[in-house]
Amino acid sequence: MDTNPFHEDDLDLRNRPEPCTVVIFGATGDLTHRKLIPALYNLAMKGDLPAGLNVIGFARREKSDEEFRKDLEGETKKNQGDALWEQFSKTIFYHQSEFQDLAGYERLRDRLDEMDREGGTGNRLYYLASAPEFFDDILTHLRNAGLNEPREQGWSRVVVEKPFGVDLPSAKHLNQIVSETFPERDTYRIDHYLGKETAQNIMVLRFANSLFELLWNNRCIDQVQITCAEHLGMEGGRGGYYDTAGALRDMVQNHLLQLLSLIAMEPPADLSADGVRDEKVKVLKCLRPMIGEKAVAENVVRAQYTAGTVNGQPVVGYRRENRVNPGSMTESYVALRIMIDNWRWEGVPFYVRMGKRLPKKSTEISIHFKQAPKVLFNALPGAGDTPGNVLVIRIQPNEGISLGMRSKLPGPAARLQPVKMDFDYQTSFGGSGPEAYQRLLLDAMAGDATLFARRDEVEQAWSFIDEIENAWHKSANPPPMAEFPAGSWGPKEADELLKERDHVWRRL
Ligand code: BG6
Repeated sequence: MDTNPFHEDDLDLRNRPEPCTVVIFGATGDLTHRKLIPALYNLAMKGDLPAGLNVIGFARREKSDEEFRKDLEGETKKNQGDALWEQFSKTIFYHQSEFQDLAGYERLRDRLDEMDREGGTGNRLYYLASAPEFFDDILTHLRNAGLNEPREQGWSRVVVEKPFGVDLPSAKHLNQIVSETFPERDTYRIDHYLGKETAQNIMVLRFANSLFELLWNNRCIDQVQITCAEHLGMEGGRGGYYDTAGALRDMVQNHLLQLLSLIAMEPPADLSADGVRDEKVKVLKCLRPMIGEKAVAENVVRAQYTAGTVNGQPVVGYRRENRVNPGSMTESYVALRIMIDNWRWEGVPFYVRMGKRLPKKSTEISIHFKQAPKVLFNALPGAGDTPGNVLVIRIQPNEGISLGMRSKLPGPAARLQPVKMDFDYQTSFGGSGPEAYQRLLLDAMAGDATLFARRDEVEQAWSFIDEIENAWHKSANPPPMAEFPAGSWGPKEADELLKERDHVWRRL
């Protein structure tokens, strides 16, 4: 089955991606090699890229166009084959400059103008994929060189990679610089979880099916769990960045709070970018703040993995990882109990956890409905231990949605047995569609910001996260750092977080 979601018919239903020149800042970095160029090449292979698209890689090292293409070739062809590489690579160019050097941007401007004279469109998509400390310089010089101004007939947009700041003040500062350079409608703050097909399906599941939405509240839902487990640790020198960030900043502030917002939001008035983002930001505003060490200690568990075994391989503990401080107080795991103070969710805990070096890679959301009252079948001995109705949204892998129910076990006795109804993308659609970056790049080219974070969303999420970080790193009596062996499902303290209400983490 053809799973390409951008059929001609589909394109009529949404804005069309427009031809443009994509300028990638930080072009020699990992993101460009592993994600951006492969995503563009994949789109080209499927015929989904607008004709006339060019890519300019902007970075500090000396390199010719040809050398740059050669550098990209291996990773890109490895996954996607070489059918179109010859042709596609001719649309990729290299531009050498320091990020702080205005003259480099002026040369870029001349080069872009030249390309326009040779048949370009004047549309420019600037992609900030460099280390975040250069974002300021890049934006300032784009402005100083007049590159932010749309050409006569074209547009200029900016895509900003994460991390979008490291706390609220830095995010505000970055937002300020961005807004001095590009209007909000041309600013695309990327969160690649929003580009995942299953994340997009949350709104459809909720608002296109009357069955669920009517039950989607504190009268029927007992608890919600969001788990993002990863088996990887600090491979590829990642420890250097990670040790300055930690699980809370790296994944919860962005990806997991975005998933939580999609689960908890009210139906938007329409499907416009602002319609959807207005509702998500309302959820973030209603998160109960955790102010002070006591609130944080009661609602958040932070931990690091110690040496253990993952997929049968022995692995070192977090503090022994390459480029990690041996005395590090950065969490590789975090679990939170988040309350949303609004009418729909009053009293329903949202348990959110994320960890590196857990037994496997898996992201899922589970909605646990309240148990049936203790009469009839629920009064039977042992019935209370049989799980009730749980709706599971598998974000990745094995993308799909399943609904757990209780059934009568065949036979003369009235015995209950858990069963499930299962929808999986592979069986129903032949797969879960393109990788997130492909979808997001096309959306940016089409001017559709629905799947990108708005300024207020990012800031609101940081203000929630900052209180927790402050209790950990700035208080006199910081909550402890727990430990668990790599390859296990996290520290026992995270189980305690759920015990108060007799809840347990779902086994993935
Ligand atoms: C990134 C984080 O944003 O997302 C990484 O910085 C994490 O630490 C990655 O591993 C996970 O993305 P995915 O799509 O593999 O779940």
